[in-house]
Amino acid sequence: MDERVQRIEEAAQYIRLRIGEMQPEVGIVLGSGLGKLAEQIEATAVIPYSDIPNFVQSTALGHKGNFIFGYLSGKFVCAMQGRFHYYEGYSMEQVTLPIRVMSLLGVKCLFVSNACGGLNPEYKVGDLMIIKDHINLLPNPLIGKNMDEFGTRFPDLTVAYDLDLIEKAETVAAALGFELRKGVYIANSGPSYETPAEVRFYSLIGADAVGMSTVPEVIVGRHCGMRVFGMSVVTNISNSTNKLENLNDGDDVVRIADQAATRMSLIFSKLIEIL
Ligand code: HPA
Repeated sequence: MDERVQRIEEAAQYIRLRIGEMQPEVGIVLGSGLGKLAEQIEATAVIPYSDIPNFVQSTALGHKGNFIFGYLSGKFVCAMQGRFHYYEGYSMEQVTLPIRVMSLLGVKCLFVSNACGGLNPEYKVGDLMIIKDHINLLPNPLIGKNMDEFGTRFPDLTVAYDLDLIEKAETVAAALGFELRKGVYIANSGPSYETPAEVRFYSLIGADAVGMSTVPEVIVGRHCGMRVFGMSVVTNISNSTNKLENLNDGDDVVRIADQAATRMSLIFSKLIEIL
């Protein structure tokens, strides 16, 4: 058997021993400072990544490193409290392994979240943005021999982000009185923040927000046939001019994300209720 598939199966097998017969319907990836939603899950198992075969460690700021299983809005879900990034030095296979594990465990619907820099001049710090599309500047995680067990060689990404879930999220947010942005997320490798010249370039090619994650998980989730919903929290404004007062700071990112996490958690939990 393909060694990559074997590694995914080993991880899934270990988790099955810990969670029993239950199959999570929804998988959630909680980004920088957004781990709060995990507190609302009525957990039946909290599994540290260090316990799971072939999982790597979450080293990024604001990422806890637990795979949580339990009930949210009446559904059995799993949530990654902290994700893996390419900039941590992990391979794309390692970054996306948890998504394929989720698929083996039964996940049909993937919710992803992240902190991002706002490129769109209308965006403000603290805004929530529905991801309607993406631009990928990271290596594609599907490069290499196709894992036919999971999906097709050339998956279509015309509708990567589920249109029905986007519409439902807009309805849910309106009912809660929350303003939402809807835009294009561009992923680059980081870990350095963008230069003003890169910021101008990304805006020019159609991006509204920039980050260092999410797209690999989305591509692999779509490859597995999952419905995908993504949301970004604008934690800082990406600056298009070289001014010293415009510096970015990772601690600010985590602090702002934490403030927005309550609103994002409400939207996710209501959306999961009405899936
Ligand atoms: N750039 C890239 N990633 C980010 C940013 C940013 O400005 N803010 C939060 N994550």
